[in-house]
Amino acid sequence: MSKKKFSVNGTFKDSVNTIKFLTERKKFIDSTEAVLPTRTDDFGVNKVAKSLHPKQQKLVISKIEEHGNLAKSYYFKGETELAYFKAGQYLTFKLGIGNSVVTRSYSIASSPASALNGEYQITVKRIADGFVSDYILDNWSVGDEVIAFAPEGNMTYCSLRDAENIVAIAGGSGITPFLSLARAIDQGDEDCALTLLYGCRTSDEILFKEELDSLSEKNEKINVVYVLSHSDEEGYEKGFVGADIIKKYAPSEVYSIFVCGPGGMYKFLETELPKLEKERKYIRFEVFSSGKKAEESKEFNITVINRGNESVIKANSNETVLCAFERAGIEVPARCHTGECGFCRSKLVSGKVYIPEGEDKRRIADMQFNFIHPCCSYPESDLVIRIN
Ligand code: FES
Repeated sequence: MSKKKFSVNGTFKDSVNTIKFLTERKKFIDSTEAVLPTRTDDFGVNKVAKSLHPKQQKLVISKIEEHGNLAKSYYFKGETELAYFKAGQYLTFKLGIGNSVVTRSYSIASSPASALNGEYQITVKRIADGFVSDYILDNWSVGDEVIAFAPEGNMTYCSLRDAENIVAIAGGSGITPFLSLARAIDQGDEDCALTLLYGCRTSDEILFKEELDSLSEKNEKINVVYVLSHSDEEGYEKGFVGADIIKKYAPSEVYSIFVCGPGGMYKFLETELPKLEKERKYIRFEVFSSGKKAEESKEFNITVINRGNESVIKANSNETVLCAFERAGIEVPARCHTGECGFCRSKLVSGKVYIPEGEDKRRIADMQFNFIHPCCSYPESDLVIRIN
């Protein structure tokens, strides 16, 4: 269609142009496909949206890489194009282990560009009594098919919200979202600078050291510092990542802090970060559950109301309510397992739960009306819970 110019005052010429415009518009409409799609799925825009944000994806394990006895990296290919993601997001996998149906999230270690080339990478670390991690490490093989939901998560750099300089604090396998970010910066897909403070117990436990060193050496926007808590070695900082180490390596310009690691690290930073006197908006966390404080485990009953059906299951006081659901084979919508996403939100009809400090990310209204996130709630009595 040609573009017509209309004057503000409205002249005879404008009327003529309007008539011409309407005639051309009608011709244009008549020339398009006579039959409109009847299903919303058939609209072109919906097809694109679906390929970018599928509800779930079938992935095939294409390669497994071992990191000593510590961890394994799994590489996946998709049957079709893989959903795009932002560096820092995670994939939630759905698995059947015995009679249990479980979901677990793992940050994507590969760069976003890799998804466009049809590949994701995650890294799974062995943890003491890790129900799902151990199952994956001992059972997943090349060629296996797995189900993952579309990438999600908010630990991503956003130029409108975050400072251009990111100080990332990683603990253990919490390195993976920042490896993805470093790769994305190096590939020109993220426009921020990264100072990575990576805390491990000893230098043997550092994952991806060779690649991190090489990224740090070749790209002036990436700086990596290793901090060892249990050994004193030359070339490494000694201790825990706290206010002093952050001040020593943080850029002089304004910076945001991203944290990804175990609950113990969160507890330490909780007392350290206020020393920096930063505005809260510049601090972001993704913390794996610290679990319940060690005490003698007790057994409770949970009456579960699920779509009108009622069943009674056993629960252990040292395991989350979500874990009890999973062990009993009750499928609950869940993604992050850190209390963040709200997918597992359920109504606590009666009983008492313990929610570790710092892991209660419920909305105020949910607290008032007794909704809980089972992924970070531990039973302290018999419970009645309605799954939403
Ligand atoms: S799974 Fe995300 S809040 Fe529970």
